[in-house]
Amino acid sequence: MSEINWAALQQAAQQAAAQAYAPYSKFPVGVAVLADSGHIYTGCNVENASYGGTVCAERNAIGAAIVAGERKFTALLVYTPQEMLTPPCGICRQVIAEFFTPDAPIASCNHLQQQQHWTLGELLPAAFTPTYLANSTKVGA
Ligand code: THU
Repeated sequence: MSEINWAALQQAAQQAAAQAYAPYSKFPVGVAVLADSGHIYTGCNVENASYGGTVCAERNAIGAAIVAGERKFTALLVYTPQEMLTPPCGICRQVIAEFFTPDAPIASCNHLQQQQHWTLGELLPAAFTPTYLANSTKVGA
């Protein structure tokens, strides 16, 4: 895999954030994921009047990639027009761990051209992953 084109990911994530449906929080988020295929997929947050029905940009981006047939990913970038750089929430970290390796770079950027980078393993150490189910003892009927 060649160097990650963070500028391309930022442009895609920023465009996705412009489509965010965030009438309640007024906190638009856009995410771009880079699949191992080289394709970039995007998502934005989609809020709901029930609040609990809200889906984050990360999970919508991963869902868009999954329906396109992707299963493995190289990098994920969050864009928020906020002074504090936004990392993925806990639920999204778990969903990211389903498809990304612990050494995968996860980054956040904003409208001030600031970026912060982590690995998935830093954001979600000792993750519960599909491996535990694949190697599990099947207990019960
Ligand atoms: N949100 C995301 O889409 N991704 C994150 O990483 C943090 C939070 C959304 C959920 C909700 O629509 C709004 O941001 C405020 O929590």
